[in-house]
Amino acid sequence: MEKRLRLFPKSTEIHRVDNVGRLAIGGCDLTELAAEYGTPLYLYDQSALDAAVDEYRSSLAAHYPGAAGITYAGKALMNLAAARWAVGRGLWVDCTGAGELYIADRADVPRAQILVHGVNKSAADLQAAVAIAGTIVVDNLWELERLAALAGEVANFPDLWLRVRPGLAVDTHAFRQTGQDDSKFGMGFAEMVEAVALCRANGLPLTGVHFHQGSHFHDPQPIGPALERVLELLSELRDASGWTPAYLSPGGGWGVPYHEDDLPHPSIDDYVAFLSAKLAEGCAANDLPLPVLHVEPGRSIVAVAGVAIYRVGAIKRTVNRRWLLLDGGMADNIRPSLYGARYSALPVANPLRPALGPAWLGGPYCESGDVLIENLPMADVQPGELIAIPVSGAYHLMMSSNYNGALRPAVLWLRDGQARLIQRRETLADLIDRDL
Ligand SMILES: Cc1ncc(COP(=O)(O)O)c(C=O)c1O
Repeated sequence: MEKRLRLFPKSTEIHRVDNVGRLAIGGCDLTELAAEYGTPLYLYDQSALDAAVDEYRSSLAAHYPGAAGITYAGKALMNLAAARWAVGRGLWVDCTGAGELYIADRADVPRAQILVHGVNKSAADLQAAVAIAGTIVVDNLWELERLAALAGEVANFPDLWLRVRPGLAVDTHAFRQTGQDDSKFGMGFAEMVEAVALCRANGLPLTGVHFHQGSHFHDPQPIGPALERVLELLSELRDASGWTPAYLSPGGGWGVPYHEDDLPHPSIDDYVAFLSAKLAEGCAANDLPLPVLHVEPGRSIVAVAGVAIYRVGAIKRTVNRRWLLLDGGMADNIRPSLYGARYSALPVANPLRPALGPAWLGGPYCESGDVLIENLPMADVQPGELIAIPVSGAYHLMMSSNYNGALRPAVLWLRDGQARLIQRRETLADLIDRDL
């Protein structure tokens, strides 16, 4: 159980209230937060967010010989508070589509710090992108042609980066691979050559190249061959057209430990050190100028900072299982049902008491697949107790739904011992707000 505690933000402690140990994060008592805001409840510890950014920054400074920047992948968690925090930390913010662009704009993210992604950007996405963003990552030739058509109409046209598909996969769940030959994302090498020519013919401000191999990988090695391929392509493009990119982004995707079995986990520094060395060596080998290296992490910044709190309701014993049924599940965290993501958990009160035996933590929704955690050694938890699931900060709220009329949870931001409500819980009225 001690090991499990290491999955939580570093600021987590067990403090004693009425002689019972209780989990507190960032100086805030989780039992009190649950009483005040209800459950399911999500909270983000700013000190953990800051620590992840600091690690990226110091690693880039230590290992990469050129200039470097960080784009925060907003798809992992995007709301006004997260966008404002990212800007405050000097990050760029990656938005997918007009919706996230709207949030970034309302959060006053400066144009120069907004970067846009999207595999099939709609007309509305492209209009919003040219109006709001500083950089657009172009996914395909059809998009590039539509951007070329817009270029004449807009002053201050964003920089363009081209997204290349290196044709290699990283080791992660197939649903999270993006760089392989048959991926729907990005352009093959022949299309890249055409895209550079199209940009030049239309006088478009082409400044960078982007690739993203997939999400939640734990070994940086497979990035190496992908990067080598991209650099070979860039040297061919340089020979053919004289063009070299000022920026190169290898996307995001660095993984995090979700379960105590994932510990110890290689660090952000291991990843950045590998990437930096490979890029510097590859540029030297291909006689390419060092680009600005823009990493694009989402999960490795926000996942550990986020913790979900649920209340246990019914407890059932079936033939082979002890079921702890929670008041949240696949509607706020689809990851276990979507790709078998594995989580861990601790009771909020007396968290380190010994396990009684394995438990299955199920949600309240009408799907047999609505199980957040399977076969986890758990204490003798009773109905009414609170359970905290660590590493809940990335891709939960953003993929949440109103399935079975679920109300999306309240979200708190913890800083300096204070909890601030950054998103209220949805209400029943929200469920019919769009109905005509
Ligand atoms: C283009 C792009 N960049 C960055 C990311 C962020 O990945 P992660 O949250 O795993 O770091 C993703 C996620 O899939 C992505 O598609």
